[in-house]
Amino acid sequence: MKRKLKRLFCLMLSLALLLSLTACGGSGDGGEGQPAPGGGETQDDPRTEPADGGDAEEHPVLVVYFSRTGEQYVVGVIDHGNTAIVAETIAEETGGDLFELLPADDHYPMTYKELTDVAKREQNDRARPAYAGEVPDLSQYDTVFIGAPVWWGDWPMILYTFFEENTDALAGKRLVPFSTHEGSGLSGFDKKLASAVPGGTVLEGLAVRGSDCQNRQDDVRESVRDWLEELGF
Ligand SMILES: Cc1cc2nc3c(=O)[nH]c(=O)nc-3n(C[C@H](O)[C@H](O)[C@H](O)COP(=O)(O)O)c2cc1C
Repeated sequence: MKRKLKRLFCLMLSLALLLSLTACGGSGDGGEGQPAPGGGETQDDPRTEPADGGDAEEHPVLVVYFSRTGEQYVVGVIDHGNTAIVAETIAEETGGDLFELLPADDHYPMTYKELTDVAKREQNDRARPAYAGEVPDLSQYDTVFIGAPVWWGDWPMILYTFFEENTDALAGKRLVPFSTHEGSGLSGFDKKLASAVPGGTVLEGLAVRGSDCQNRQDDVRESVRDWLEELGF
């Protein structure tokens, strides 16, 4: 009887040992363990968690723009440029940063007729007017909005300076053109941008009437919001 009890005790002990060994199996880090149920090797891995936060964080945004004050077509003398108003609205709505392309040597007249003459001359000469200041480090942005007034049916020449000086840095980014105008719409800004910066992905642009920027700012904000929503912001 005593021997029988001893054998039973030994059997139970070995069973307990076996059970504890099985429980330990697979929890080691030797790489041979079974994957977690549902193939969830990465399920709780914080490195693969989607980033929290809004679209601006997921798609860091820069808004680059050129704009003039002084005498403008339809609206007369203005102290806040039409394109500047749209650019600021985009930056506010996306949480993006702003960079204004200011001419290094501001040779642009403040009167409309004289300004159109200078702009036409620059276009005919295929000029590349220099801009002042340092472009922010473009590597930190995923999306770059680029806006300007339509000048003689095209981007003002200073934009081509920007495109050419930053072609490589803009490659691989989402590029979003916008214009202000008094009748010409987007004026092919999207196609011209795509050929100037072939490495970028050009998204659908927005064209805004210059006079609306001065007189109907709520409507402009609404159009910008709708457009951003369509773009997925
Ligand atoms: C030099 C010059 C050329 C222009 N050419 C055009 C044009 O071809 N088509 C158009 O619709 N508007 C044209 N405009 C009007 C401007 O695009 C419009 O007033 C714009 O909103 C001005 O924006 P800003 O205040 O940001 O400079 C021209 C204006 C200037 C000064």
